[in-house]
Amino acid sequence: MPPAFALHGSPPVGRHHPTDTLPSIAGSDRIVRQTESAWTSLKPTLERVIGQIQAKSVLEIGAGRHPFFSMEEAQRLGFRLTINDIDAAELDYAPRGFDHLVLDVAQDVDRRLLDGHAFDLIFSRMVFEHVKDARKAWTNLHDLLAPGGVGFAFVPTLYSPPFVLNRLLPDDLTGRALRLMDRTRNDKEIPKFPAYYDACRASETRLRPFLKEIGFSEALVVPFYGTPYFPRIPVLRQVFRAFDMLCTRHDLRTFASYAYIIARK
Ligand SMILES: C[S@@+](CC[C@H](N)C(=O)[O-])C[C@H]1O[C@@H](n2cnc3c(N)ncnc32)[C@H](O)[C@@H]1O
Repeated sequence: MPPAFALHGSPPVGRHHPTDTLPSIAGSDRIVRQTESAWTSLKPTLERVIGQIQAKSVLEIGAGRHPFFSMEEAQRLGFRLTINDIDAAELDYAPRGFDHLVLDVAQDVDRRLLDGHAFDLIFSRMVFEHVKDARKAWTNLHDLLAPGGVGFAFVPTLYSPPFVLNRLLPDDLTGRALRLMDRTRNDKEIPKFPAYYDACRASETRLRPFLKEIGFSEALVVPFYGTPYFPRIPVLRQVFRAFDMLCTRHDLRTFASYAYIIARK
C-alpha cells in the first residue's frame, strides 16, 4: 500500500505562472470541436497546458485504475503526478509509482494532508459528472492550486440526449444498456458510476460567473458536438445527424456532448 500522500521536492507554495490567457495556454482555437476529438485532443491539450505553465506538480482527480498519464510520460514532460480517487481500492488497480491522495473532491479537504503543497495543474477525465456538489469540488480545486495554476475538467454535458437519459433513468437500466453497446463497461474493466452532471455544461455564459464567484480569475469552456452512442436505427440516425449539424453550425452549447471546463486561479 503506497503512502496516503507523500511529495518530495514540492514546488514552493505560491509559485506564479506566466501571464498568457487561457485560450493561448490551452490552444483552444486549434481544437476540433467534434465528439471524437474531445477524446483524442485531451492529451495534446493537457501536454500543451503543462508546457505553457511549466507545471511541475500535477494532480489527477478521480484517476481511478486508469491514470491518464504514464510514469514515462510524466518523466518526459517533467512533472510529478499525484493520483487521487475517492476510493482507495480503485487506486490499488493503478500502475505503481505515483503519489496517492485518497479523498472526496467534493468534501472538506484536510489541508494538513498536503503539508502546504499546491499544484500547478489539477485535471480530471470523466469524473465531475459523478460529483454531487460541483461548487464544493471547484472550490477545493481553487484551494489546492498555486497562484496562476489551472483546473481542468473533461466532462460529458447536459443536455446531450444520452446524458439526459442517463441522468433521468435508473442506474441499473442505463448500466445494462451501456454494457450492450460496450462490453468493456463491466465492474472488472470499466465500471459505471452514478452520474449527477452538476455544473456539467458547455455554456461559458453559465459557467464563467460560477467559476469567478469561486475565485478563479479566468474561465474557458471548449464545447464538443456530436451525439455519442449514436443510434443505429435508420430514421433516428438521420434525425440525430441533422440535429448535430445544426448544433455545430450554430454553436448551440445547450446540446453539446462534452466540454473541457478550464479555470485559472
Ligand atoms: C468514470 S471513472 C473515470 C476514471 C478515470 N478518470 C478514467 O477516465 O478512466 C470516475 C472515477 O472518479 C472517482 N470519483 C467519483 N467521485 C469522486 C469524488 N467525489 N472524488 C474523487 N474521485 C471520485 C470514481 O471512484 C472513479 O474512479
